[in-house]
Amino acid sequence: AIDPQFETNREKVGEENGVAVWGPVDPPEKHGIHGTHVAVDFDICLADGACLEDCPVDVFTWVDTPDHPESDIKAEPTHEDQCIDCMLCVDVCPVDAIDVDPG
Ligand code: SF4
Ligand code: F3S
Repeated sequence: AIDPQFETNREKVGEENGVAVWGPVDPPEKHGIHGTHVAVDFDICLADGACLEDCPVDVFTWVDTPDHPESDIKAEPTHEDQCIDCMLCVDVCPVDAIDVDPG
């Protein structure tokens, strides 16, 4: 599962699609955690898609991660600023790849 303490345990290494990226990043195997308020561990995400289907405000968009061991697309929290903290995505992700920090 995603580490809910990632902001302390990882370093912010850059930005992609307008959201922070928390390392380590070493493609194609490692893409790190993407987002801060809504965070997705790209190295756990296997492209189930439930988060995209269920988010009421369309926070997530697909991005390409070619040759990643789990899946070659990932759910980017591109519109994390629109999140209403309903926690649906956290509940539906089958591999607990998502962390949402209300407040
Ligand atoms: Fe969307 Fe709710 Fe998840 Fe926020 S907590 S990203 S609003 S599903
Ligand atoms: Fe990935 Fe979980 Fe969404 S596997 S696509 S973060 S439901």
